[in-house]
Amino acid sequence: MLAIPSFGGGGFTESTTASAGAVFKVPDSMPYAAAAALHVVYQTGHLALHRSANIRAGETLLVHAGAGGVGSAAIQLGRAAGARVVATAGGPDKVEVLQRLGVDLALDYREHDFVDAVKEFTDGRGADVIYDPVGGDTYDRSTKCIAFEGRILIIGFTGGRFAEARTNHALIKNYSIVGVHWALYNILQPERVRAIHDELVALFEAGQIDPLISERVSLEEVPAALSRLGSRGTYGKIVCEL
Ligand SMILES: NC(=O)c1ccc[n+]([C@@H]2O[C@H](COP(=O)([O-])OP(=O)(O)OC[C@H]3O[C@@H](n4cnc5c(N)ncnc54)[C@H](OP(=O)(O)O)[C@@H]3O)[C@@H](O)[C@H]2O)c1
Repeated sequence: MLAIPSFGGGGFTESTTASAGAVFKVPDSMPYAAAAALHVVYQTGHLALHRSANIRAGETLLVHAGAGGVGSAAIQLGRAAGARVVATAGGPDKVEVLQRLGVDLALDYREHDFVDAVKEFTDGRGADVIYDPVGGDTYDRSTKCIAFEGRILIIGFTGGRFAEARTNHALIKNYSIVGVHWALYNILQPERVRAIHDELVALFEAGQIDPLISERVSLEEVPAALSRLGSRGTYGKIVCEL
C-alpha cells in the first residue's frame, strides 16, 4: 500500500494516519521505495500531460527542471506517450541525468538559450507541450518557443516569481496556458486519481516508467536531505526508509 498521510501527522514518522481515500494498492512487483517516489510526481505528470494537454505521439514536449522530481517523472511519461522530449537543467551533472533518462535533447540552460535550441530542434515550429515547474523568467521565455496550438502547463514556481501571462500573446500565437493543481483532483475527482494510479502501475509493470531515486536516507537524515533539496543539490527523488 502507499498512502498520503493526513495533514498534522505527516510522513516522516514510524506510524501515521491516512483517510481510506488516500490509500492505494501497489503490486508485489513494485518496491516500497518506488511506490513512495511514484505517487505525487507521476500523478501530476500523467494528469497534466494526458488530461490537461492531451499530448499525442510525435509531439514535442519541453520539460523544464527535468532532473527534478516532477521533471524526471514528466520526461518518462512523455517518452511513454511517444513524444519527442527536450529537457532543461542547470549544470553538467544534471544534464547527464537528463541523458540517462533518455531525452532526445538535453540542455544546460545556463550555457545555452533553450528558446533557440527548441526552435532548431523543431525546425522553427516550437514545442507542442511545455511542462513548467519553474515559472518566472522560464515561463516568459517559454512563450517564445511554444508551437501553434501549443499548451504551456503551469506546474510550479521554483524560480520564485509568478509569471504574468500576456493574454494578447496567447491569442496571437494560438496557444493555451493550463493550470494544473493535482491535489484538488483528490477532492473533486478522486475516481480520476484512482484511475491514473492503475495506469501508472501498468506503465511501471510494463517497464515504461521507473521513478528516479537518487538517495535513500534514514529518518535521522531527513533534515539534511531536505536542506539539500531546498538548495537544488539533488536530482530525482529522495526516499526515506525506516
Ligand atoms: N501542480 C502540481 O500539482 C504539483 C505537484 C507536485 C509538485 N509541484 C511543484 O513542482 C515544483 C517542483 O517540484 P519538484 O518535486 O520537482 O522539486 P525539485 O525536485 O526540488 O526540483 C525543482 C527544480 O527546480 C529548479 N529550480 C529552478 N529555479 C530554482 C530555484 N530558484 N530554487 C530551487 N530550484 C530551482 C531546480 O532545477 P535546476 O537546478 O536544474 O534549475 C530544481 O532541481 C514545486 O514548486 C512543487 O511545489 C506541483
